[in-house]
Formats: sequence, C-alpha cells, structure tokens
Amino acid sequence: MARTKIALIGSGQIGGTLALLAGLKELGDVVLFDIAEGIPDGKALDLAQAAPVEGYDAKLSGTSDYAGIAGADVVIVTAGVPRKPGMSRDDLLGINLKVMESVGKGIRENCPDAFVICITNPLDAMVWALREASGLPHAKVVGMAGVLDSARFRHFLADEMNVSVQDVSAFVLGGHGDTMVPTVRYTTVAGIPLPDLVKMGWITQERVDAIVDRTRNGGAEIVGLLKTGSAFYAPASSAIAMAESYLRDKKRVLPCAAYLSGQYGVDDLYVGVPVVIGEGGVERIVELELTAEEQEMFSKSVTAVQGLVEACKKLGFKGG
Ligand code: APR
Repeated sequence: MARTKIALIGSGQIGGTLALLAGLKELGDVVLFDIAEGIPDGKALDLAQAAPVEGYDAKLSGTSDYAGIAGADVVIVTAGVPRKPGMSRDDLLGINLKVMESVGKGIRENCPDAFVICITNPLDAMVWALREASGLPHAKVVGMAGVLDSARFRHFLADEMNVSVQDVSAFVLGGHGDTMVPTVRYTTVAGIPLPDLVKMGWITQERVDAIVDRTRNGGAEIVGLLKTGSAFYAPASSAIAMAESYLRDKKRVLPCAAYLSGQYGVDDLYVGVPVVIGEGGVERIVELELTAEEQEMFSKSVTAVQGLVEACKKLGFKGG
C-alpha cells in the first residue's frame, strides 16, 4: 500500500518540528512547502539525513510550488507570521488572512480530499477563512488550539500535584485566546475530578485558579521568553496527535476548533469544542451541558471569535 502523504504549508519553526515528528512516528511521506525558497528544501534534506540515524522510512521533500502538495492526505497549515512580544494573536489578522486566501486556493486545486489542520493565528478566524478559501467540507477542516491549551493545563496541574502528565486529563472550550474556558469540572487525575482533588487536599482552589490563569496566557508567556517568535514544540505535537487520529482512524476525543452548525447554540462559526476525529475527519461534536458560569465564559469567547470573523469580512475577505 502506498504511504500516506502529509503536506506542511509553512516550513518555519512549527513546520520543521511537524516534519520531524511525522518522521519519528512514521505517519507517511512529508512535503514541506514555503514561499521562502530554499527553506523547505533545506529542512527536508536535513530531516532526510536524520532518518538513517532515527530509523524512520519516509520520503521528505521541499517545494515552493503548490503542485508539490498534489494528492496529500493531510495538510497542516502554519503559513503566516507568528507574534512578537506585546502583540496579541488578533494583531496578526490582516497579514495572515491574505496568506489563508492563497493557501486555501492551493489546497482546493491540488488536494481537495485532504484533512486540513490549521495552526496559523488568530486561530479561530484563520481556520474559518481557510475553510472558506478552500471550499472543502467543514468536517475536513479543523483548527488546532484546544489540544495545545489543554496540554498546557495538564502540564501545570501534573507539575503542581507531582503526578504523571499521562494521568491528567483535561480540555478547554472556546476560542484560542484570553477568553478560552479551561473546564475544571471535567479535569481529572486518573478519573478523579479536580474539585474532588481540592477537597482531598491535593491542590488548593487558589492554585487551581492561578493555573487556569496561567493556561489562558500560556502562549504569551512563551512569546515573552523567546522574544523572536512563539511556541512551536507543543503546537506541533498537538497537531500531529490530530493528524494521527485521522490517518489511523483512532477516533480520539480531542478539543479542536470545529465548525458549529447549531451545537452549543452557535451557528456558522469555528469554536473550540471536544470532537471525535476519525477517518471521516470531524465525525462527532461532543455537546456538553454547561453550568451557567461556564456558559457565560463560553459565550464571551464565542463573541470574541465572531468579532474576528467580522473583521475578516470588513477587510474584504470573500473566500474561494
Ligand atoms: N505561503 C506559504 N508560507 C508562508 C506564507 C505564504 N503565503 N507566508 C509566510 N509563510 C511562511 C514563512 O516564510 C515562514 O517560514 O510561514 C512560515 C512561518 O514560520 P515561522 O515564522 O517560524 O512561524 P511559526 O512559529 O512556525 O508559527 C506559524 O502558527 O502558532 C501560529 O502564531 C503562529 O501564525 C503563526 C503560525
């Protein structure tokens, strides 16, 4: 059977890390694409030379021509610019919107059957724009944010309680921004809900609140430290988990920016919710009952995402 093909649009910090992880996990052959000529080819060659040492069999190639992504099974999009200290994700909107127009066209013309994962920020608006520009079915275009945000939440909690990250399960709802909603009620350590762990004295409510806050600002904390760009290892790992669930039909339940058509009372918008990812793409949207407080935070987040999509429309974005 032919190997699957993974196209990475954008060969910067995240793109290069995605290619390495795809190789290490033997997910398929990898094509790196970038408008900066030479970079995708250089990274592909470097990673191909790591293959004999690591023992992965994958063909890695680089291109600046969209014809190179023809027939890709999965496309992961990081093309655009990352933020610098002092910038919010929303400050990237104007530049990255134009990038989504060209990327969407490239996907539509070369691999319309692919499963597409968008990472470019501001995520919830960019995944909407990419879907519009590509014209692909909504179930095949999804945004990576929730897996990353919940991984940050899980890391901080595991560190605080001195338990394995593997045993901490959590997810966040809403947009990928300051209004995201880490769901404390559904966060567990080996099945024990976080509110019970507070009662058991494993963690204080004050520390939970501080960790929720740190999670919301998790991206900015890294931007402030790196100064030249934003996080790339954890974003790449998160998108690879989503790609793997699709390619291996694992049907994992992962929080993603998914297209809502009435669920959670939201229509025609991409927002972060738990979904099942399998061979059909987004196969199911998990609709939770929210408490009044969670609903209020979620609605605030939805309003923020709506504002970004409106801003895209005002900038003259028309899609494909
Ligand atoms: N088409 C293809 N590639 C493009 C385009 C375009 N129109 N415009 C820019 N690029 C490429 C750049 O040349 C660069 O190599 O996208 C790459 C982005 O890489 P980095 O600048 O290293 O950014 P990275 O850290 O990978 O983040 C990419 O993901 O998390 C988000 O906010 C982040 O939007 C940013 C994106």
